[in-house]
Amino acid sequence: MTMFNNIYKNKKVLVTGHTGFKGTWLCLWLEMLGAKVIGYSIDIPTKPSLFELTKPKCVDIRADINDFKKLKSVIKKYKPEIIFHLAAQPLVRLSYEETLNTFNTNVIGTANVLEAVKENKFIKAVVAITTDKVYLNNETGKAFKETDSLGGYDPYSASKAACEIIISSYRDSFFNIKDYGKTHKTLIASARAGNVIGGGDFAKDRLIPDFIKAVLFAKKLEIRSPQAIRPWQHVLEPISGYLMLGANLLNGKKQFATAWNFGPEKKDTKNVEQIVRILCKIFPGAKYTVTKTKQPHEAHYLKLDISKAKKELKWVPRWNINTTLNKIVDWTKSYQQKKDMKKVCVEQIKEFCKTKKC
Ligand SMILES: NC(=O)c1ccc[n+]([C@@H]2O[C@H](COP(=O)([O-])OP(=O)(O)OC[C@H]3O[C@@H](n4cnc5c(N)ncnc54)[C@H](O)[C@@H]3O)[C@@H](O)[C@H]2O)c1
Repeated sequence: MTMFNNIYKNKKVLVTGHTGFKGTWLCLWLEMLGAKVIGYSIDIPTKPSLFELTKPKCVDIRADINDFKKLKSVIKKYKPEIIFHLAAQPLVRLSYEETLNTFNTNVIGTANVLEAVKENKFIKAVVAITTDKVYLNNETGKAFKETDSLGGYDPYSASKAACEIIISSYRDSFFNIKDYGKTHKTLIASARAGNVIGGGDFAKDRLIPDFIKAVLFAKKLEIRSPQAIRPWQHVLEPISGYLMLGANLLNGKKQFATAWNFGPEKKDTKNVEQIVRILCKIFPGAKYTVTKTKQPHEAHYLKLDISKAKKELKWVPRWNINTTLNKIVDWTKSYQQKKDMKKVCVEQIKEFCKTKKC
């Protein structure tokens, strides 16, 4: 695979959150690119899990992102040139129950990663993963640009907005692009992706995993917020963005050390019920109801403006919503048939790389 001009070949890459849904896809892609991956995660967040199904080739370290001593020693020992920081408590609803854990893991965890980078000058690039939920959401329905104000109603969104402020503070104070090549050699960027979906997500309280579970166990799906609009995208879309961003940072392109949105095209930003209706067509017989139970607050409109990534990074979404949902269905059928899921994921990555745009 020559994508990314072989920049990841034999590169030592630290991925935090490597045992999670997105982390596993990233590790599989990095393995295909010939990178030497060091993974750092507290545990495997779900059972079953994509990580256990595919076993990406990596040094598999299980430790807490809040164990600063351990994190520093791992970085010192393995000397990665780039870090993709994904470790987080990523669920909005759980953040209402595990509020302090969410703030500790997401906010202090991110500060720990950046502080460890400060102490280890050989790191050339950091891509820190936040979310589309970092924006101050007044529910106007407009698509957020990277320059819009940060905010956060629920603890998860607030924690990720806080991460953005911390990332920008470290960048301004210690890794300022004005001083790049003089006092430091590290470029730091953040990436804000939309609602990521794809094969192998077994998380609780997410629409697609809940739909798949309902199909697998012949149960009726209960959906909440049917009119809530989200920027749905296949997991390979933001992962390709993270890798492109990382490649540019590794190449010393300092103008890329900033914040980036990675979302779908406007036409693919749909509401929850529209997504479920498409899935019900692909899986005839699947049924759903709308829950009547009162739910904790979640944003109603969430749309991302991706013009900056398209124009400057030359990144474009490749799979539209129909292709994305069909890929998830293909993945799920292979899983039901007990196929080799690493092969299935690798094939999907290859297909994704071949698609120009659909
Ligand atoms: N899935 C989405 O729709 C989505 C959208 C936007 C952004 N994100 C962000 O992408 C990243 C990955 O999300 P995901 O969906 O793969 O989540 P996930 O729950 O599948 O994975 C989370 C990973 O973080 C690790 N982790 C959690 N707490 C930790 C701790 N204290 N110390 C070390 N590791 C810890 C877990 O072990 C796991 O490897 C997160 O930062 C999330 O906020 C996700």
